Amino acid sequence: MAITTRQYEAKDFARLHKLDQECFPPGISYSKWSLHYYLSLPGADCMVAEEGKQIAGFILAEENPPLGHIITLDVAEGFRRRGVGTILLREMEQHFAFQGVQSVLLETSVENKSGIAFWERHGYRTEAVVKKYYLGKIDAWEMRKKLGKR
Ligand SMILES: CC(C)(COP(=O)(O)OP(=O)(O)OC[C@H]1O[C@@H](n2cnc3c(N)ncnc32)[C@H](O)[C@@H]1OP(=O)(O)O)[C@@H](O)C(=O)NCCC(=O)NCCS
Repeated sequence: MAITTRQYEAKDFARLHKLDQECFPPGISYSKWSLHYYLSLPGADCMVAEEGKQIAGFILAEENPPLGHIITLDVAEGFRRRGVGTILLREMEQHFAFQGVQSVLLETSVENKSGIAFWERHGYRTEAVVKKYYLGKIDAWEMRKKLGKR
């Protein structure tokens, strides 16, 4: 079955929260409160990838042109390395570009080797380290991509 994408709907909330809990360690994954907070931001954009009725992943971002911020990208374990993250990221970048975003920023744990490999593959470059960003002890890379450049 093919992967399809669509906009987030309120009925997805519980499944997205569960997926985020599965994708990140406790304390780094979002509480229901914080996920709800990010989804409710005025510039929030959230896209869901599905195979049939199964949620394969989602991307949550915030646009504030000329800046865009990727809040999280979560792909369910059984769907990884099948291009789902790439599909979601490309759609969000296209949407960002349409909205006038020129530069996309994100943070990822310095310990998240697969995440870093994924972002680098898509043209994101480390700009700075944010000390003790996660749980007050794990550093994060701040990564950026200028849209239109590969
Ligand atoms: C990082 C993540 C989003 C990647 O999603 P995905 O759907 O598996 O990614 P894709 O299949 O589109 O991969 C595209 C490319 O990224 C790189 N990549 C992805 N996962 C990788 C891994 N585990 N190790 C090394 N490179 C990886 C590869 O270059 C890959 O291309 P290839 O499969 O042809 O080698 C997914 O592993 C995930 O959800 N992880 C947990 C949450 C997370 O860390 N999110 C990102 C930080 S916010």
